[in-house]
Amino acid sequence: MTSSEFAHNHFRGLTGDLTIRYATDADRSTMQAIFNHEVASSTSSWEWLPLSTEDWQTWFDDHTSGDYVALVAQFDGQVAGFAGFSAFRPKAGYASTVEDSIFLDPAFRGRGIGKVLLQQLLAEARLRSVHSVVAAITSENLASIGLHRNAGFQEVGRLPQVGHKFGRWLTLLLFQIILDDRPAP
Ligand SMILES: CC(C)(COP(=O)(O)OP(=O)(O)OC[C@H]1O[C@@H](n2cnc3c(N)ncnc32)[C@H](O)[C@@H]1OP(=O)(O)O)[C@@H](O)C(=O)NCCC(=O)NCCS
Repeated sequence: MTSSEFAHNHFRGLTGDLTIRYATDADRSTMQAIFNHEVASSTSSWEWLPLSTEDWQTWFDDHTSGDYVALVAQFDGQVAGFAGFSAFRPKAGYASTVEDSIFLDPAFRGRGIGKVLLQQLLAEARLRSVHSVVAAITSENLASIGLHRNAGFQEVGRLPQVGHKFGRWLTLLLFQIILDDRPAP
């Protein structure tokens, strides 16, 4: 199966009609608005300032080039959120690991959409023979911690006070899931 045959999945239930599909250029500005809302209002992103259209284009390109991927959750016709993965670290030796991102519009949280979106993202990672996925999560982000634990991620690292935002030190937790048991790359 090629990756383009995947990620057009419908999920009924969830009191609505959920489609998970690849992000397209037409989704870019809605995704940017969802992300920038988080930048302005929470510590789920450690950015201090909203990303410009050019910076967001870079994010989009990083997550849609090569073997990387960005998915959109469309709920009853509206873009409810997105998830993607891109390089964990740039050096060649990290090529079999990716880092994920997932952001939902606040209006669509808490009804199971994030869970389905993350499951589909992990399925995409498996399709691309990704061995390991890392999630870097602010320690106070209980929703993301719960979401990732629920999907099988385990906490593997803690970096106390490694950053700051809104005048407070932030602690970063590293979560990881290993997707296959192949003994060698
Ligand atoms: C994190 C986020 C993507 C979760 O998406 P969601 O659609 O609200 O989550 P779901 O409704 O699918 O919940 C899935 C699981 O996540 C956990 N979870 C979700 N919201 C939670 C909360 N507020 N507190 C604790 N756990 C929570 C639960 O384990 C839940 O499973 P359960 O309902 O079976 O107990 C969403 O809250 C979000 O976009 N937050 C802001 C951005 C963000 O933090 N992104 C991650 C950056 S690392």
